[in-house]
Amino acid sequence: MDINLIKEAIETKVYHIPSDLIVPHHRHEDRDEIFYCIKGSGFGISEDGEVELNVGDSFVAPAGTIHSMRSDGEMYVVAVLIPVNRIICHCKQVSYVDIRKAMVGGARTLEEIQELTGAGTGCGGCIGEVERILSIACGCKGVSMETVVNAVKDGADTIEKVGEATGAGTDCGRCKLLLQNIIDTKK
Ligand code: FES
Ligand code: FES
Repeated sequence: MDINLIKEAIETKVYHIPSDLIVPHHRHEDRDEIFYCIKGSGFGISEDGEVELNVGDSFVAPAGTIHSMRSDGEMYVVAVLIPVNRIICHCKQVSYVDIRKAMVGGARTLEEIQELTGAGTGCGGCIGEVERILSIACGCKGVSMETVVNAVKDGADTIEKVGEATGAGTDCGRCKLLLQNIIDTKK
C-alpha cells in the first residue's frame, strides 16, 4: 500500500470502557488495531485469551482477528486503526481487498471468486478464509451477508435503511459499496 494512503487513513479514537459496557466481539478485516491504556485498567480480549492492561500497556488486534475489551472498574484506551491489505491466498497473491472488490462487483460464491481473482485455485489452503470473507457483509458490526440480503428483501432499499435494520455500515463505512451492490442485486 502507498505510504501516503496509509498515513491519510490512520484513525485514532479514545474509548471509555466502564465495567458495565459489553463490547461485542468483532474484527476489522482490513485494519490492524493497537490499543494503549491511558487510564484505569482492564483487559484486551482475543481468541487466545485475555491480556491485562494497566496504564502504559498495549494490546494489538491484527486485521481479521476477533477481539473485544472489558474492565472490572473502568478503563480509557487510545485505539489506533492502521489500514493493511492482508494476502489471503498466498499461492496466487490475492489480497483481502481483491476479494472484496470482486464482491462489490457482484461475486458471491467461491467459484466466482476463483474465476475472478484466482484465489483458492492453488493448494486450496485459503478456501476456508475466502468462504468466511464471502459470508460477511460488515466486519465492524459482524453482520453477515445473509442478514443484509434478508433486510434488503424485507424492504431496506437504501444504505441508511440497511444500517437501521442490521447495523451494517454504521462504523467505518468501508462496506457501503458492497451494501449498495447487495441492494442493487438483491443477493
Ligand atoms: S493459499 Fe490459496 S490456493 Fe493456496
Ligand atoms: S466494515 Fe466498517 S462499517 Fe461495515
